[in-house]
Amino acid sequence: MKKKTLPLTEAYRLIEPGPVVLVSTLHDGRANIMPMTWHLVMEFGPPLIGCVLSAKNHSFSGLKASGECVLNIPTAELAETVVRCGNTSGSSVDKFKTFGLTPVSATCVKAPLIGECYASLECKVKDCRLISEYNFFILEVVHAWIAVSKKPRRTLHHLGEGEFMVAGRRRSLPSAKTSIGGPRCPPGTEG
Ligand SMILES: Cc1cc2nc3c(=O)[nH]c(=O)nc-3n(C[C@H](O)[C@H](O)[C@H](O)COP(=O)(O)O)c2cc1C
Repeated sequence: MKKKTLPLTEAYRLIEPGPVVLVSTLHDGRANIMPMTWHLVMEFGPPLIGCVLSAKNHSFSGLKASGECVLNIPTAELAETVVRCGNTSGSSVDKFKTFGLTPVSATCVKAPLIGECYASLECKVKDCRLISEYNFFILEVVHAWIAVSKKPRRTLHHLGEGEFMVAGRRRSLPSAKTSIGGPRCPPGTEG
């Protein structure tokens, strides 16, 4: 396969990490929504999710101050709304009202679920140690919701620069579920 050098600033576009999520937060009595792609699963149970929120985003301070959020998973039908939420700031726009989204009370956190999303993960910030250096939050999922309908879900996957893939055909290939969690080395004893 013939290859060429790719500018380093484009490298992230090849590592598509998972569905675009809409992070909802509640801070100072105001709910906000932010699309986010930079997230990863860190543990099955209790489920841990790591994610990066730029400190320039209004949601960063909302999440840092409240310690809670909901990761809502939209489908392709909401693509334009997702982009609109990503082009506006909660500092000046009420995104729920402006984009016609429905706030729904969560069970374990104060931040609202987004009614139009097919799944929602209520999360609490579990570890703050990487926030100051990397804007990296480690979240624990404390309650998870999924639509009852079994209709196939066309989730959105962001390729950067305004390009998206929509999830398509599924294949089932049997595999053993390997544990990637387990005991961790105490600090200073790694390697
Ligand atoms: C598809 C998409 C994915 C995004 N992913 C992230 C992300 O992972 N982290 C981040 O800090 N900003 C991300 N953004 C940018 C924020 O969503 C954007 O700056 C938003 O306006 C922030 O809103 P807020 O100021 O109300 O928090 C993304 C935007 C889009 C459209």
